[in-house]
Amino acid sequence: MLPFPNPGADPLNEPRSRILPATPANLERAGRLIRKGGLVAFPTETVYGLGGDATNDQAIAQIFASKARPAFNPLIVHLPDVAAAEKVAMFDDRARKLAARFWPGALTLVLERRKDSNVSELASAGLATIALRVPDHKIAQALLKQAACPIAAPSANRSGNVSPTTAEHVAASLGTDVDLVLDGGPCEIGIESTVLDLSGDAPCLLRPGAITQDMLVGEIGPVEKASPDEHKKPRSPGMADRHYAPGIPVRLNVTAIEPGEALLSFGSHTLTDFAAERNLSPDSNLVEAAANLYRLLRELDWPGFAAIAILPIPEEGLGLAINDRLRRASAPGATPQGAAPRGAIRQKKAARS
Ligand code: TXA
Ligand code: MG
Repeated sequence: MLPFPNPGADPLNEPRSRILPATPANLERAGRLIRKGGLVAFPTETVYGLGGDATNDQAIAQIFASKARPAFNPLIVHLPDVAAAEKVAMFDDRARKLAARFWPGALTLVLERRKDSNVSELASAGLATIALRVPDHKIAQALLKQAACPIAAPSANRSGNVSPTTAEHVAASLGTDVDLVLDGGPCEIGIESTVLDLSGDAPCLLRPGAITQDMLVGEIGPVEKASPDEHKKPRSPGMADRHYAPGIPVRLNVTAIEPGEALLSFGSHTLTDFAAERNLSPDSNLVEAAANLYRLLRELDWPGFAAIAILPIPEEGLGLAINDRLRRASAPGATPQGAAPRGAIRQKKAARS
């Protein structure tokens, strides 16, 4: 008999990531890895997540690179409890009620980001909203405790593959692009969490999951349902006005500087007459560039400049996601409404340094 083909799995000769049992020593090691900016795949009650320090731009960029995501879809930020979640986003009565009823559990809430949140802007893809979840799984909770930071974690699969529900799925899908996989056996629920958007007046179900619409309605009343594909292109990223776009014009793929323009560069170049410059990555490293993108765009977003001129970014790897975001930022419909007020940016920088 012919071997049954398994289209989801990589060939067996591909190098795979390290799978370790979730012993106290390995959890401590995983926590250390996350604090140092590494990536750890871990089980939750829904699916395995690919986790990184949500406050570390570089770690978040590495998550996108490891998943080979063509665009910066916003990630779910995992927290140990409601108190920690309230430090990251604004909770209203509806959010508090749902959190009290369903957390820890398979419910993700999309809420308005707190301006003073230290979560990477790349994790929420430059949006004014952020997706939060408190997982109901011993190992996920132990990891959050060891890491002592919010953990951003999309499903731990290569973009386009199905979500992994065992440690072996993760290893087969991500290969060596994850530092370690904590093994917690198969996930109990096996499909991703319910995603509910509470950032507008009407609660909107963006992704159905184990916490059903009826269960939500039972707690907070009417919940509208997004079209089936909506969670793939979250409402907000689809709407340019809620996305980060600088307040001044953005020019892409420039080869020369116009008078008064600020330059956002990548790698080395020979241009000289810019009014100011920030470099996404002097070494032409796309992971570093992704990590720096939102911060540097904001730094150059000053009304005294005629425009932000941006050097070409290679259309490969994370460059695809960077260019996707830059095209949105430069689109004619893009408005600066999604941008944080300048005071908030300054505050954040002060808090960081
Ligand atoms: O069960 C789960 O939720 C798993 C485990 C690991 O927690 N995680 C997961 O993450 O499925 P991911 O990245 O594969 O899916 C996140 C979903 C996407 O559909 C994304 O578009 C949506 O959440 N999302 C995240 N932030 C959002 C935001 N600010 N607004 C709208 N949708 C958002
Ligand atoms: Mg996913």
